[in-house]
Amino acid sequence: MRDQGSFDCTRLRLATLRTTRLDKSHRTDNSCRRVYDSHVTMKNLGILLSGRGSNFEAIADNVAAGKLDANIAAVISNRHDAGGIELARLRGLKTLLVPSRGKQREEHEREVVAVLREHQVDLVCLAGYMRLLSPWFVQQFPNRILNIHPALLPAFPGLDAQKQAFDYGVKVSGCTVHFVDADLDHGAIIVQKAIPVLESDDEHTLALRILEQEHIAYTEAIRIVLEGKYRIEGRRVIASASSTVK
Ligand code: GRF
Repeated sequence: MRDQGSFDCTRLRLATLRTTRLDKSHRTDNSCRRVYDSHVTMKNLGILLSGRGSNFEAIADNVAAGKLDANIAAVISNRHDAGGIELARLRGLKTLLVPSRGKQREEHEREVVAVLREHQVDLVCLAGYMRLLSPWFVQQFPNRILNIHPALLPAFPGLDAQKQAFDYGVKVSGCTVHFVDADLDHGAIIVQKAIPVLESDDEHTLALRILEQEHIAYTEAIRIVLEGKYRIEGRRVIASASSTVK
């Protein structure tokens, strides 16, 4: 039943993204809730998000389906209106709001890092987190912060990457999961997924097809890092075993 529930949630998530914002029926759908076994020792994920949270949901589905040996210890947002926080709450996960508005970056980051430490987070996953991390923050979790970007880096870093790629006229685009360093969308690349840009695409259909790949790529990258089955040579992250989502 768990697999079926996961499948339904994934389909529901993509269908919802194709139409409009999350509706009430999804918010109250108990089939998307998960029970976590606190007796099993797992690695703790901390999710940072600022928006709708579809990448968070994909990670949570894979954790719940046993496809990712990890525990989501905390879902943290800097924005009270982030849809992803509500989705996490509905799943019974620990959610925390750490508002960034009106604070200096250092003050806000110290609060976030304190919350991550309090929840014994091993790996920080940025999932649509609309804040640049300072070098200090990055140093708190060396090679333990991941980000997902909706383009094939180093092409099209920054905001509206899908539109940047579409407007540029590329024939191939995709997504990148990378370690976070002190520069924007810059750290060593763990996983990339490429898709063709179709003649029939517009920037929205392209973004949706990239998003489908994001939902696969993030779990693959998390698994590689948590299992420690990689080494870094220069900028190259070399995975030593297949971590494809089953
Ligand atoms: C994704 O496109 C991700 O690549 C980018 O921000 C977006 C977040 O989407 N960093 P969601 O909130 O996970 O749906």
